[in-house]
Amino acid sequence: MENNKLFITDTILRDAHQSQAATRMRIEDMIPALEKLDKVGYWSVECWGGATFDACMRFLNEDPWERLRTIKKHMPNTKLQMLLRGQNLLGYKHYSDDVVEAFVAKSIENGIDVVRIFDALNDTRNIEAALKATKKYGGIAEVALSYTSSPVHNEEYFVKLAKELEKMGADVICIKDMANLLLPYDAYSLVKKLKENVKLPIHLHTHNTTGTGDMTYLMAAQAGVDIVDCALSPFANGTANPSTEALVATMQGTERDTGLDLNALGEVAAHFRTVADKMKAEGTLDPKVLNVDTKTLIYQVPGGMLSNLISQLKQANAEDKYYEVLAEVPRVREDFGYPPLVTPTSQIVGTQAVLNVLAGERYKMVPKESKALLRGEYGRLPAPVNESVRSKAIGSDAIITCRPADLLKPELEGYANEMKEKGIGKCAEDVLSYALFPQVAEKFFAVRDKAPEDENTVRELVVEDLGL
Ligand code: CO
Repeated sequence: MENNKLFITDTILRDAHQSQAATRMRIEDMIPALEKLDKVGYWSVECWGGATFDACMRFLNEDPWERLRTIKKHMPNTKLQMLLRGQNLLGYKHYSDDVVEAFVAKSIENGIDVVRIFDALNDTRNIEAALKATKKYGGIAEVALSYTSSPVHNEEYFVKLAKELEKMGADVICIKDMANLLLPYDAYSLVKKLKENVKLPIHLHTHNTTGTGDMTYLMAAQAGVDIVDCALSPFANGTANPSTEALVATMQGTERDTGLDLNALGEVAAHFRTVADKMKAEGTLDPKVLNVDTKTLIYQVPGGMLSNLISQLKQANAEDKYYEVLAEVPRVREDFGYPPLVTPTSQIVGTQAVLNVLAGERYKMVPKESKALLRGEYGRLPAPVNESVRSKAIGSDAIITCRPADLLKPELEGYANEMKEKGIGKCAEDVLSYALFPQVAEKFFAVRDKAPEDENTVRELVVEDLGL
């Protein structure tokens, strides 16, 4: 990469509002700032994928594909980036390879330049199809290492994984630290090791949930990281990514100067401050997300997972069991072969830990998701599982050792036929929306294609439709 400059990806249009405001930023909130955002000179702007696709249709009555085309039209000079969950695309199950290929092709055709692909278990077989499609259709394939710490997740593990991804054709390697677990000195050491062992640019993604994100970026910059993910200040920090302006100012005049202009950033930030204020007023942005939460540093459990555990215990009237559950989480994780705690494994491990404590006997109750994980349906677990736990949970069920998607037949045509029969949808993109979220998409099409006079009517219809 050019000189020694530190490059920045801004997540203001995706991760920042997904993390702070439940993915509720609308395209109208973005449009007034897009042209200025385009002139900043970022390495890329993350603006699509993750939970935005579902949220567009489910809550905002927006066509996610239309949103992407609109952003592209206003931002022709900046690489647009999306987040893709490997074989799960933007949904929560494995899709067949033909759906994966078509989805990636259409994402690129509609404006995406950089596809960041990850798998919750770091099973490279779940990344393969999306990576191949990204290369085939001319996108930049950035593949992520889902970062976690455990006895198996050491530097050697991540270096080996990065080398494998390089061989598979990745263009950029991302360290995806979704839970802000990667501490500054560990980041320095990991980035150094990766730079020594792979030739690809290294992109670091962290959050500021535990308050260490800025320090992690600074140490990573000193170790030679090429690109980091920041968010403009109105949606930065707390559960979101560290702030763009703070890092740009920090690096100014150093050999890793980002070259970005603080005044230009200030102008774009001014717009998003009004959006953040509006969202605070309507309650979609709860200022609590900005608090530094250091529990993750103590329990090694992501912040989002802790709040889930609390609400599960509340429902069971067992809030006094909180610390018992916290102690149970690492035991379950070990029994399950140390999966990184990210969607969906964080929910699976968390729920199992709650059940183990509430039942008073470990693995007396085992939900179907735990069973699927132990059967290998999500892919290869990072370490061997506890065999006695596995046989208690799934008995003599067969264990999948192949690539899970190899068991799926092509699905795309089936979805298209189903839509034809129902008389819904208008284009190939609609088929993909439907393939990922059938019920949500069908409701969305019904409202969109009714073409009422004004947008407000549409919103009311959707809200009514979903019983919100
Ligand atoms: Co993130």
